[in-house]
Amino acid sequence: MSSGPPVEPTSEVRPDAGDLGARIMALADRLAEHSESRGGLTCTYLSPAHRAVAMLLRDWMRAAGMAVAIDPVANVVGRYAAAHPGAKTLIVGSHYDTVHDAGKYDGRLGILAALVVVERLHRAGVRLPYHLEVVAFSEEEGVRFSKPFIGSSAVAGRFDPAMLKLRDATGFTLAELMQETGLDPSAISAVARDPATLLGYLEVHIEQGPALLQAGSPLGIVTAINGGVRQLIAVTGTAGHAGTVPMAMRHDAAAAAAEIVLAVERRWQQATGLVGTVGQLAVPNGAVNVIPGACELSIDVRAGDDATRDAAVRDVHAEIERIAARRGVRVAVRETLRTPAASCAPRLQAVLAQAAERAGAAAHYLSSGAGHDALMFGGMTDIGMLFVRCGNGGISHNPTETVAAEDADSAARALLEALLLLAQGGRR
Ligand code: HGY
Ligand code: MN
Ligand code: MN
Repeated sequence: MSSGPPVEPTSEVRPDAGDLGARIMALADRLAEHSESRGGLTCTYLSPAHRAVAMLLRDWMRAAGMAVAIDPVANVVGRYAAAHPGAKTLIVGSHYDTVHDAGKYDGRLGILAALVVVERLHRAGVRLPYHLEVVAFSEEEGVRFSKPFIGSSAVAGRFDPAMLKLRDATGFTLAELMQETGLDPSAISAVARDPATLLGYLEVHIEQGPALLQAGSPLGIVTAINGGVRQLIAVTGTAGHAGTVPMAMRHDAAAAAAEIVLAVERRWQQATGLVGTVGQLAVPNGAVNVIPGACELSIDVRAGDDATRDAAVRDVHAEIERIAARRGVRVAVRETLRTPAASCAPRLQAVLAQAAERAGAAAHYLSSGAGHDALMFGGMTDIGMLFVRCGNGGISHNPTETVAAEDADSAARALLEALLLLAQGGRR
C-alpha cells in the first residue's frame, strides 16, 4: 500500500502506555465545552459551537505539524505531508458534529486518535512514505438539515447539490447558511478527492453498542457497515373539535401515525439484523382540544444486507397504505437517505488486526449497525474501521456515553501501528 521508501518504526515514535489515551480524553473534554445547549452537548452543523470546535481542531492540527485548511463544507483538513511530494494519500477521519444531547466521543474520538498519533510522528520527526490527511468531517449526523454525511460526501465526490436547497428549522437553506458563515457552495465540487490518489480510508470510532463490552475486547475490527434508508412521512387527516366529532367520523393523523410506528416495530422484529426506528414524531401546531389534522414522523431502517432492508421497507409501505385507506388520511413520503451497506477491505482489516495485536488487544471482528463517514468512501477506495469499546452497556447518542481512557489509548496506539504497517507496505 505504501508508495515511498519503508519507514523503520523508531522507538521514540511509540508512546508510553496511557499517554495517548489521557490526551484524547482531555481534548474531548475541551471540545465538549462548546455546545448549543445549556448543560449537555449539542453541536450541529455551522452553529457557533460547531465553528468554535473547528477552530480548536485547526489549531491543534497545526501545532501537530500539519498544514491545515477548512474546506467549503467546513471539514477541517490536516495534511501531514510525505517526504516525497508525488506520494499517495491515506485519509483518516471522523466527524465533529453531534446529535442533540450527545456523548463526547461519537466521531470526535476518531479525530483525536488521529491527531495524537500525528503529534507523536511530528515530535519524533518521522515522515511517512504517503501523505496522511486527518479529516474532521463537519456534518455526519444529519440533524440540522435531515441529510447526513454532508462533509464526507463532499470529500468522496458524492455531494448532492440538491442538498443546498434543504431548509433547517429556521427556514435557512443550506446554501444561505454556508454563505452566511463564509463558505462558498460553488467550490464544493473541487473538494472531491481523485480515487487514484488515495491509498485508502481509515476511521477509528466508538462502537456505540455492547459487543466489545460483552467480548471483553477493547478494540474491534469492522467487517462491514450496515446501509440505511431514512424517510420523512407526512400524514394528513382532518383537524376537528376534540369534543364534538364522534370517534367513528374522525380522520386523526396522529392515531394513523401511531399505527405506523407499531407497524415499523412489528415488521422489524421479523428478521435478525434488521432495525427500524421512528426517531421523530410530531403534530405540527398541535393543541390539546384539536383532533390532529397533520402528523410528521421519520423512519430509519438498517440491515446488514440491502435486500433484507428494502423488502422490509416495501412491506411497511404496503401497511401504511392500508392504514391510510382505513382511516381516510393521506400519506406523503420523502426519502432523505439511501446508503448501500459497505464492506471493509480485507487488506485493511488484516492491517488493523495486526496493529491491534501490537497494541496489546486481540482482534475482535464485528459489523457496524451504526452508519459512519466511511460509508461515503465505500466503492471509491479501500475502507477500514477500528471500533473502540464503550462503557455503560455500549450506550451512545446519549450523554451517558463513556469510553475508558485505556481503551482510547489502545485505539490510538493501534492506529499508530497501522500507519507504520501501511508505511512498510502493510507487510506482516
Ligand atoms: O446514525 C448513525 O448511525 C450515525 O450515528 N450517524
Ligand atoms: Mn452518531
Ligand atoms: Mn458517529
